[in-house]
Amino acid sequence: MFAQATALQPALPQNLPGAIAALKQELNAVILAHYYQDPSIQDIADFIGDSLALSRQAAATQADVILFAGVHFMAETAKILNPSRTVLLPDLAAGCSLADTCPPAEFAAFKARYPEHLVISYINCSAEVKAMSDIICTSANAARIVAQVPADRPILFAPDRNLGRYVMAQTGRDMVLWPGSCLVHETFSEKKIVQLKVNHPEAAVIAHPECEETVLRHADFIGSTKALLSYVETGDRPAYIVVTEAGILHQMQKAAPDKRLIPAPPTNHCACNECPYMRLNTLEKVYLALRDRQPEIVLSEPLRLAAWRPLERMLAMS
Ligand code: 13P
Ligand code: SF4
Repeated sequence: MFAQATALQPALPQNLPGAIAALKQELNAVILAHYYQDPSIQDIADFIGDSLALSRQAAATQADVILFAGVHFMAETAKILNPSRTVLLPDLAAGCSLADTCPPAEFAAFKARYPEHLVISYINCSAEVKAMSDIICTSANAARIVAQVPADRPILFAPDRNLGRYVMAQTGRDMVLWPGSCLVHETFSEKKIVQLKVNHPEAAVIAHPECEETVLRHADFIGSTKALLSYVETGDRPAYIVVTEAGILHQMQKAAPDKRLIPAPPTNHCACNECPYMRLNTLEKVYLALRDRQPEIVLSEPLRLAAWRPLERMLAMS
């Protein structure tokens, strides 16, 4: 019985990066990876980026297959933008705690209370929520997009209240906020960051806008993952306290090997500054997804079209 079960296990090649490269060529596939992926995945990706850059890559790629090393809403966005491609996500359970805070039925009821409002949704949401939105934004372009909305048009912003508050402060616009948040970015301890600042006065604090306001007020720079990476690369400080998911440190260290990177600590002694959803993807699962051409992202055409419109608006506005 046991021997039979073992025999059914798919055999994995010794050289996974080599086997992945061969499958990529065979399928005419491209691997897009977010900065929060495990370094082993970042190292075999064709393109690494933040949500905005990855969306642009997905929309423009000529590859037949997009292997999306990220979370579900990112792979779903790739399918919405480029429906004739096969989009694979190594682990379908790679969701997003922030997207999960905004169930479509509850969002529909909330939106109905604000019929005059323009709905701007952060890309970290389901296709159903995108379909109920007027414009999508990412952390890289949220303030720019909100600033383009006529001043007399009220705005409903979903689902991240922390990004929403940050954008309100940046633009001076009042907005109705859906009360969602990310469990990784809300775990950073203000107390420990202040202590780190005291211990490392030479370091700049850099943070992702999904962090709470109490943490953001200690930041010297706030931006999307790509913006944080560029800040470290071009900045003149010798050290950086990095307040976002720890996967980004891999590219930061490569881009600026002479700079010291200090990951901001979470409230507990856990690995909570790693996104548990992003980290569900592994090199083994990337290989298996390409080998078996699954798990594949599938969307109904009416839903895809409804979610595509606000995404197209974002790409045109940013
Ligand atoms: P970026 O927009 O910086 O890629 O952030 C995505 C994300 O999921 C942050 O938690
Ligand atoms: Fe979602 Fe947070 Fe993970 Fe980003 S870090 S994918 S917002 S759970």
